[in-house]
Amino acid sequence: MTAQRLLLITTAVLFLLLHHAVGIGQETCVSFQSSSSTFSIVSGQRAAPVLISEEDWPGVQLAASDFVADIERVTGVKPSFRNVTTSNIQALGSQTPIIIGTLGKSSLINQIVNTTGLDLSSIQGHWEAFLSRRVENPLPGVSSAYVIIGADKRGVSPWYWWADVPTTKQSQLFVSASGCSHGSPTVKYRGIFFNDEQPALQNWAQEKFTNGTGAPFNHLFYRKVFELILRLRGNYLWPAMWSGKFAVDDPLNQPLADFYGVIMGTSHQEPMMRSTPNEFTALPWDYSTNSDAIKQYWLEGAQRARPYESIFTLGMRGFVPLSEETNIQLLEGVISDQTEILKQAFGGDVDISTIPQVWTLYNEVEDYYTKGLQVPDYVTLLWSDDNWGNIRGFPPASERNRTGGAGVYYHLDYVGEPRNYKWITSTQLEKVHEQLSLAVARSSIKLWILNVGDLKPYEREVEFFLNYGWNSTRWNHSNINQYVSAWAQREFDVSAATAGTITQIVGNLTRFNARRKPELLNGTTYSLINYREAETVLAGWGTLLNASDRVYNSLSQTFQPAYFQLVHHPILAGSNLANMYVSAGLNRMRATQARLSANSLADTVERLFNIDYDIEERYNSLLNGKWNHIMDQTHIGYDYWQQPMQNSMPPVTRIQERKQALPGVMRVVPEGTDGAWPGDNRHNCREGYNCPDWTLTINNFDDFENRYIDLGAGGPASFQFTAVANASWVRLSTSRGTISPRNKVEQRVFASVVDWSQLQDGANGAKITFTATSSGHQPSVVNVSFVATKNVLPSGFKGFVESKGVISIEAAHTSRNNAVDGTAWTELPGLGRTLSGLTPLPRNDQSFAIGAGPTVEYDFFNFNTIGGSGNLNVTLYLSPSLNAATDQKPLAFGVALDSGAPIRVQPVPASSRKDKPLGWGSECGWVANSINTQNITFTGVTPGAHTLKVSMIEIAVVLQKIVINAGGLADSYLGPPESRIV
Ligand SMILES: *[C@@H]1O[C@H](CO)[C@@H](O)[C@H](O)[C@H]1NC(C)=O
Ligand SMILES: *[C@@H]1O[C@H](CO)[C@@H](O)[C@H](O)[C@H]1NC(C)=O
Ligand SMILES: *[C@@H]1O[C@H](CO)[C@@H](O)[C@H](O)[C@H]1NC(C)=O
Repeated sequence: MTAQRLLLITTAVLFLLLHHAVGIGQETCVSFQSSSSTFSIVSGQRAAPVLISEEDWPGVQLAASDFVADIERVTGVKPSFRNVTTSNIQALGSQTPIIIGTLGKSSLINQIVNTTGLDLSSIQGHWEAFLSRRVENPLPGVSSAYVIIGADKRGVSPWYWWADVPTTKQSQLFVSASGCSHGSPTVKYRGIFFNDEQPALQNWAQEKFTNGTGAPFNHLFYRKVFELILRLRGNYLWPAMWSGKFAVDDPLNQPLADFYGVIMGTSHQEPMMRSTPNEFTALPWDYSTNSDAIKQYWLEGAQRARPYESIFTLGMRGFVPLSEETNIQLLEGVISDQTEILKQAFGGDVDISTIPQVWTLYNEVEDYYTKGLQVPDYVTLLWSDDNWGNIRGFPPASERNRTGGAGVYYHLDYVGEPRNYKWITSTQLEKVHEQLSLAVARSSIKLWILNVGDLKPYEREVEFFLNYGWNSTRWNHSNINQYVSAWAQREFDVSAATAGTITQIVGNLTRFNARRKPELLNGTTYSLINYREAETVLAGWGTLLNASDRVYNSLSQTFQPAYFQLVHHPILAGSNLANMYVSAGLNRMRATQARLSANSLADTVERLFNIDYDIEERYNSLLNGKWNHIMDQTHIGYDYWQQPMQNSMPPVTRIQERKQALPGVMRVVPEGTDGAWPGDNRHNCREGYNCPDWTLTINNFDDFENRYIDLGAGGPASFQFTAVANASWVRLSTSRGTISPRNKVEQRVFASVVDWSQLQDGANGAKITFTATSSGHQPSVVNVSFVATKNVLPSGFKGFVESKGVISIEAAHTSRNNAVDGTAWTELPGLGRTLSGLTPLPRNDQSFAIGAGPTVEYDFFNFNTIGGSGNLNVTLYLSPSLNAATDQKPLAFGVALDSGAPIRVQPVPASSRKDKPLGWGSECGWVANSINTQNITFTGVTPGAHTLKVSMIEIAVVLQKIVINAGGLADSYLGPPESRIV
């Protein structure tokens, strides 16, 4: 048997033994109730003995003892666990044992197969396949046994140690007697990558595994990691590389990985199983001038890794920039030298194609590849995402038969442009699925590797990635919620109803953080004045926090630490952060408006800034400091891509609270403006002085049923105010009140329409007068115009109705959805910034001529065009996916108004593979905004009923939202709230 083949079987058995962990949603043959078709592992306080053969692999021995420990964790009953041989097994008497072993290695298993003729065709020769079942008369003197050559599911969370998930006790444990088996996984190599693990993971590991000195990532650390990877049904690891040297830091690391059956690799920039640059001292790292030293260095790496199962990273990054052609030649030379080095290390007669090798197409390298760089067929090509979860490339159809296959390098955490994101979870599972399902459809399934940063804040997402790679047929765009719900039930032992609540909580948490990574937020991300956007965002966090608090408080103390780590912490921290930034934004705005309330907002910011650290400390001190340092990551005060070296509070300001504002005691600030009355303010009108009264508008199809006017103190004086409208159709929420710096520094007054049916069609104007009186001060009077427009729709119209010059549409809310040849725009629930996404499914590589593809149609009614010009501007909000198919088939779709000819939209301009496309980067680019917006103007449009049509040209376009500007569009981050549908 070749080493490869032995490993394969060992891995299969390890899977069986270690992966009794609950694999969410995957097939199970375990139950807690007996039936005629079950085999009893534990019942009536008695456990079936577990038997193994002495000559089996040490890794299998270890896995079997883990299996025994898991049985005890679940049932409280410890099975007897022994080495036996075929000749002494009779001593068992009448007990029905569980027999575990490796085919070809365990004499027990060999003989069982020999004497019973057990059918192994479903697993023999299949990567990681397994089988387990009850076998009658397996061995002389044993009438019946449960024989394991495969994996399945039981009650221990893979995260029992890493996230302190308690094991729910069961008094009995059974497996299906007819057995369970699993064929090969979807993705052959499924792994994680610790990256940029400083400060959190490294400081934590240093404290927990080294007594403060020595390399933090030693075998004590990795033992925990390997067990977790196997329990999650992964099989592959790129080790910590920020300051780590896997093979050098602890000489036990490499053999331990092999012992566990975890296949090791190194990151895309560390060739030949060496930690580079940390291990490389014979500088410079320049192949054109120093190739002898570099080759020797690689040879040592290959020789060192030879005894263990490894996947060799090929190629090299960091050339002195030469011409493109020279670089391609140099890289081809590097790869051929690396091939020679592998031959030298493994013996000249080795079949080089049997050594797993991977080469990552990252930035400039992808560019060389598309320009013709030659790579041996047996090398796996690893395509990367853009570090922000958008896969950059897939093998074109012509390359899908390469024997090395292709794979995906994906990120949950990142250090780089336009900004790091590495604090708390900010990735939607829906997005991960949307992108990786494309990888499955396009045969990019040889190897998946996930950048997990510090691992800890991304437990659920890491598991989903590995679970989906294990069996991609189990999850589709419409059942991601079932994954989260099953996960919640396993982790917190909650009812299906509570699991449903947690699923919604997780959906909102990841949606809120994915709208814009927390590291990119500031005080004006969300509009403070338009569409009540910042308020709505904060209200969303408030509702989420309340819901999570209720779940947390309903859990027993044993489950609270796990819930805190996996769900509650990022909600506490995220909602606090959102409040802090909005308070900072309001503070600065109100100061420019001469509002005394700016000052208490400054206090609020400072308080929330300190609470942020309280929340961090609460995590770090959980369970007597088990996770100390794991939340050390700085996250406030970014001013370029790199993390700040310390959290620094957003700048706040104060107004002089002892001095009266120049224009008097009262400040009046109507909704929708940064301006303030009386007095001058650059936002009051164009020139900023002698400005007219502000006009508030409302209409009968409005998003909100009222408008507000904030009244506030402008200094130390208290005052009484009255609010009076000059028309009886205006309702004011307050007609009088007192503003006082001590008790009530601000009051919000709402204006609304008493009864729309009493108004005449078209514009109805009124004036609202605010008068302040205060002893020792002149009375202050401010007028605000209030215009209520009553629009009339023709009877029978169905669709979206304009309000305030805008029609805003969630893409999923189609008027009609027309499939073509079985392909249709299909909702991806939960995906994206506001509701969901629409994408053409199913996916093959089909394209349509413009206008010929499946369409979605949206009926709408506009009362206006932009400035009466006959123009409407349409903005399409798209997921920031890239042109990943091929350069010849960039993302594209058509947009038409009514029966007009469709306009082709290509949302991502062509770019060289080494550069990001125009629009991708910067703090207001697609990935920062988590959206790609595309604008089209239609001319010659009359007010009335119209239909917007979006038609498929290429697959993988994801449409989230559509905003039609009829002249009233105001700034906001998410776009206006959805318009009314009649
Ligand atoms: C079985 O034998 C191996 C090899 O001697 C030993 O390492 C292991 O601990 C034994 N297992 C049990 C359950 O006694
Ligand atoms: C299995 O059977 C074959 C022939 O029937 C025999 O050569 C072999 O030794 C047996 N193996 C074991 C482990 O009993
Ligand atoms: C840390 O110190 C304790 C107490 O001296 C010792 O038992 C343990 O082995 C040490 N751990 C490491 C990783 O050195």
